[in-house]
Amino acid sequence: MKVVCLGGGPAGLYFGISMKLRNPDHQVDIYERNRPDDTFGWGVVFSDQTVGNLMANDPVSAQSTVDEFIHWDLIDCYVQGEVERSGGHGFIGLGRKRFLQLLHARAKELGVGLHFEHEFSVDDIDTKFADADLVVASDGLNSKVRNAYPDIFETSITVRPNKFVWLGTHQTFSDAFTFIFEKTDHGWIWAHAYQFDGNTSTFIVETTPEVYDALGFEHMSHEESAETCRKIFEAYLDGHSLMTNSAHIRGSAWISFPAVYCGNWIKDDRVVLIGDAAHTAHFAIGSGTKLGLEDAISLAQHVNSNLALPEALRAYQAEREIDVMRLQNSAHNAMVWFENAPRYLEAFDLKQLNYSMLTRSQRVSHENLRLRDPQWLESMERHLAQREAGIDKAVPPMFLPFSLRDMKLNNRVAVSPMCMYSANDGLPDDWHLVHYGALAKGGAGLVYTEMTNVSPEARITPGCTGIWSDSHTRAWTRIVDFVHGHSHARIALQIGHAGPKGATLEPWKWDPSRLDDPLPQEEQWPLLSASAIPFDSYSPVPRAMTRADMDAVLEQHVEAVARAEAAGFDMIEMHAAHGYLLSSFITPVLNKRDDEYGGSLENRLRYPVEVCRAMRAAWPAEKPMSVRISAHDWVGEMGITEADALAIAKAFIAAGADIINVSTGQTSHDAKPQPGRMFQTPLSDLIRNEGAVATLAVGNIYEIDHVNSIIAAGRADLVCLARPHLANPNWTLHAAAEQGYQGPGAREPHQYFLGYRQLYTNNQRARSN
Ligand SMILES: Cc1cc2nc3c(=O)[nH]c(=O)nc-3n(C[C@H](O)[C@H](O)[C@H](O)COP(=O)(O)OP(=O)(O)OC[C@H]3O[C@@H](n4cnc5c(N)ncnc54)[C@H](O)[C@@H]3O)c2cc1C
Ligand SMILES: Cc1cc2nc3c(=O)[nH]c(=O)nc-3n(C[C@H](O)[C@H](O)[C@H](O)COP(=O)(O)O)c2cc1C
Repeated sequence: MKVVCLGGGPAGLYFGISMKLRNPDHQVDIYERNRPDDTFGWGVVFSDQTVGNLMANDPVSAQSTVDEFIHWDLIDCYVQGEVERSGGHGFIGLGRKRFLQLLHARAKELGVGLHFEHEFSVDDIDTKFADADLVVASDGLNSKVRNAYPDIFETSITVRPNKFVWLGTHQTFSDAFTFIFEKTDHGWIWAHAYQFDGNTSTFIVETTPEVYDALGFEHMSHEESAETCRKIFEAYLDGHSLMTNSAHIRGSAWISFPAVYCGNWIKDDRVVLIGDAAHTAHFAIGSGTKLGLEDAISLAQHVNSNLALPEALRAYQAEREIDVMRLQNSAHNAMVWFENAPRYLEAFDLKQLNYSMLTRSQRVSHENLRLRDPQWLESMERHLAQREAGIDKAVPPMFLPFSLRDMKLNNRVAVSPMCMYSANDGLPDDWHLVHYGALAKGGAGLVYTEMTNVSPEARITPGCTGIWSDSHTRAWTRIVDFVHGHSHARIALQIGHAGPKGATLEPWKWDPSRLDDPLPQEEQWPLLSASAIPFDSYSPVPRAMTRADMDAVLEQHVEAVARAEAAGFDMIEMHAAHGYLLSSFITPVLNKRDDEYGGSLENRLRYPVEVCRAMRAAWPAEKPMSVRISAHDWVGEMGITEADALAIAKAFIAAGADIINVSTGQTSHDAKPQPGRMFQTPLSDLIRNEGAVATLAVGNIYEIDHVNSIIAAGRADLVCLARPHLANPNWTLHAAAEQGYQGPGAREPHQYFLGYRQLYTNNQRARSN
């Protein structure tokens, strides 16, 4: 087979090597614009797993690479001169130039044609290289081939906001991969530094666009930039300078990271993208070269299989795009962490900052950290326990206590509000007593009731619970008394009004093709909303609320609060999420009003804030109140986005809420969320750490590790689990047994102590095996 590789970076070279290894008769030619010794950048890092893959593919080049590796295990995180050190991270690095030299030598030895100082053009593909069976576009980040056909390759490129410059230094940072965060007069700037040969380290400096502008980097020569960075990081450089080798970059030496995604990597069954040409992964997890090398192995394997070339190319993409997507997701999380680094630097102490940074990709979790460095993790758990509860021992973060006003929770787990659709006339009955009783006995510190409505017309379905009469107060009192009398949990009433999503069937009666399927017309009741817009084409049309409607509904909320107090609830939550009445005001998807309650976010918040303030005024000062919001509509710029989330949260805090329950969506059936694990948690993180607002995180949080990581990384104060509690009301007590935790954060009912004793013993045995 005749193969041409356009671009001789790691991906192109390693593909050439991998082809020749599989069949020496292949003719492989690589065209590279640079000379063999030219290269941008400094060092690259690999993990042990990548080395394993390289060894299996070509032990010769892998061994020559391994022989040159610098190993390190520690990560140092400096903030303004103070350091936190942890171990067990296992990295390997070498110089990019040296790595390319090793690949050149191996490629030559195997008979790959290397053509340096050869600039190709895209036209060459069908002229000069017309006789090639396969053309591999290995031309990197700014791939000419990919850029010539953005539609065919379904390319999307997002240029990220932060600025970074890739520098080198003879200060070797030989002990550890080193992160250094420094606060200048203009704001935070930081370095990622790691050694890659006997006397040189990579020193990547990164900052936000605001600080970049304020420090004047845009107008500096490459040398001036390096010198300015040297002065900022002088205390860590031991007299060494910072060196630049970025002459190939015009203008400022600083660049912004382009996140490249391609839906298709193949053109005309003959041209194929690999490496950075097909996808990029931010340097924050150092995996760009790894991806290029693994692409090369996979492509060579498939092209040398018994598949015809078009199928082989498709099989290559199918295999690689899953791995690539996984890594790109992790790299994205890590990149976003650095984009928001000033938020964490301002909000966290050094230990928590280090934890947050180490878990930034969400690939490394609490338990991964325990495997890497058990002592450091223990010191972190101890630190949190000391800080949060004055306890002088390590405690799993989920079992730390939490207080809001006078309410004290014995752990950080909350049962998320979940409708049961099983009430008659809004009255909770034996089902609810047993259901909430079981949840309270199951160990969660806080149990939310389902959305409980302020009037019969405020219900979602005929089966929804309510709190509009003395009978409702009595029925709820029975449940609250049970929870208080027989468990350690506190109980919160979620108070709501369904608005445009009212008068629907119970979900198990929905037509499978519909969501929020309405009741038969004759059973529907009149609906209210911000605007007269049906929730979906098949939903009843609500009435746009008049001021008189607003007054009446506000009064109903206030009465509900008085009944919640009479029933003995510990906390109330105002439901302002998911497209229900108050949410219909906040989201521009449902609010099309042209009065002072529509238009700007401030206007759209006006009525929900008024209700919140009135509820707070009616609720005892010693008891806390939460507000549940949809912090994102997932409909693009047409709806609420991350940019609005903090303003919404702050408005409710200013109106008297103590904590924001950060949910998203359900405001439109056209929404396109990406509901991966913990998918809403970044919005809780934003609100909590950017706005200094207490939050509950919710949504696809189901593992012990998720909860511990969220709490320890300060991404929320409390964690709500919904579906996991339906499957197992004892989720928290089981989590305690699984972690071997015994203490005030997890108390089983004493009637059950024999069961839990056995569970602890069995878990302990399983752990020690
Ligand atoms: C700051 C920073 C730090 C990084 N750190 C790491 C790290 O620690 N670990 C890691 O694994 N990765 C890291 N990377 C990523 C890594 O550099 C790339 O992912 C990797 O080099 C991709 O290999 P590639 O062969 O696909 O592309 P490249 O290495 O970019 O190679 C493409 C080649 O094509 C050539 N070329 C392009 N156009 C033409 C043309 N028209 N004619 C001829 N030749 C052409 C170029 O000269 C180049 O040699 C980092 C990247 C950056 C920006
Ligand atoms: C059966 C069921 C009923 C729900 N009812 C409510 C509700 O009454 N109020 C509310 O705010 N959210 C409600 N939700 C949403 C949950 O509180 C939670 O936000 C969502 O299920 C995501 O959490 P999870 O991934 O842990 O299930 C409900 C969810 C389920 C599964």
